[in-house]
Amino acid sequence: MSNKPRILTGDRPTGPLHLGHYIGTLKNRVKLQDEFDCFFIMADLHTLTTDFSKDKTSTLKDRVRGLVLDYLSVGIDPAKAVIYQQSKVPQVTYLESIFTNLITVPRAQRVPTLKEVIRDLNIKQPSLGLLNYPALMAADILMVKANLVPVGKDQESHVEVTREIASTFNKTYGEVFPIPKALIGDGGTLIGTDGQAKMSKSIGNCIYLSDDTETVNKKVKGMYTDPTRLKPTDPGHIEGNPVFIYHDAFNDNKAEVDDLKARYIKGQVGDVEVKEKLSLAINKFLDPIRAKRAEFEGKLDLIDQIIDSGSKKASLESQKTLDEVLSAMGIR
Ligand code: TRP
Repeated sequence: MSNKPRILTGDRPTGPLHLGHYIGTLKNRVKLQDEFDCFFIMADLHTLTTDFSKDKTSTLKDRVRGLVLDYLSVGIDPAKAVIYQQSKVPQVTYLESIFTNLITVPRAQRVPTLKEVIRDLNIKQPSLGLLNYPALMAADILMVKANLVPVGKDQESHVEVTREIASTFNKTYGEVFPIPKALIGDGGTLIGTDGQAKMSKSIGNCIYLSDDTETVNKKVKGMYTDPTRLKPTDPGHIEGNPVFIYHDAFNDNKAEVDDLKARYIKGQVGDVEVKEKLSLAINKFLDPIRAKRAEFEGKLDLIDQIIDSGSKKASLESQKTLDEVLSAMGIR
């Protein structure tokens, strides 16, 4: 490992990644892996905090493999970045158990993300595990002494707790941890195909990185456009119109996009043409991602080897930190 600043970020393996993930974080990660020491965590233990049923835990292994495949397909490279599985780095739970003492229960209860999860999933009583979510995430981040944590706005409050835990630890036992900073992506969130909210698996308004050409064509055909426009000859609106937001994000032919917008505003182009061109653009964008996926698809041994070797590297780094922690505390 070099002396470059360290980055840690990642995902809970809850399902396939979509275009919103690409815009929001994956695109940036591919760039970051060339400039920094990057760790990308697949946080399988965190998924237990909202669903620990056997139905869910028994599919975790496959979901982790699917996540790796999504990462590899967009160009995250295990030769440059450490891709690892949280549960394969046992030191993280050791550190978490120390950290849970450095944060009060009311502080954990005040974390806005936790409140949202409790409300959205209609959870009657949060488990200790859910309340501990930020302590576990702090362990993920501090275990590798990350300096920067690229996350969406929704995760910012967890990074704030991490900073508090790190500084409480340092004050109590001596300087061990850098105080990490959240890097809030400027890619923004991508609106869903329904135009109603951000792209989200639970709403079913997603185009997945793993969708084939036909599926993309079908989803684009069904996309929401300008509700005030009844005929192609009606002047249309492009602001907030998902088909144009997607054209801006994925169509590399800017002249075509400008021409479509100009004609749309004047009522000189139908939704059909706008959508046909959008399908072509998204499929052109996804084709190299599909080709990369095909290199790894079905090669379970290779995928498992990538997970194991990344997890070994993360574990090695984590053990170093844990040794420092225990010695700073005077336990060892
Ligand atoms: N909580 C993050 C999410 O749901 C995933 C995650 C777990 C994470 N540990 C992390 C992100 C550490 C950044 C750093 O998106």
